[in-house]
Amino acid sequence: MSPLSLAGFTDEYIIDIPELDEQHRAFFDLLDKIGTTVSDFYKPLDDDEVDDVIDILSELREYALLHFRTEEAYMQETAYPGLAKQKQEHNRFITDVIRMEAELMNGSAIPAIKIRNFVHDWYRDHILGLDKPFGKFYKENKA
Ligand SMILES: [Fe+2]
Ligand SMILES: [Fe+2]
Repeated sequence: MSPLSLAGFTDEYIIDIPELDEQHRAFFDLLDKIGTTVSDFYKPLDDDEVDDVIDILSELREYALLHFRTEEAYMQETAYPGLAKQKQEHNRFITDVIRMEAELMNGSAIPAIKIRNFVHDWYRDHILGLDKPFGKFYKENKA
């Protein structure tokens, strides 16, 4: 737990596919690193913090890519009808994170809370809205 820890992974997010649940949990742990890096969530980042947050964002993006590929493989395995929509949302997230990294590199003064909340809220809404229904489908349709 970081000094500036906010709500992370909770049982509500469990979709009942252990490998994916583990990855979701690990993603929230990674996101928590933003709170250990910045001194104040609500102040614009200073130069050192910008560098650290860019590193964390690129780590989050790499991890998200790995996770999306894993999750999409589970969907392919069961010919999930929601796969195209999932892929679209996954790709949009990656694009948004890249844009955020670019904004930080270009020196825009974004407070950490905005970055953290964007990533957190996207992931929360995505798991609850799209991954959870897939978990149910997978259970009923896996071989
Ligand atoms: Fe997903
Ligand atoms: Fe997911």
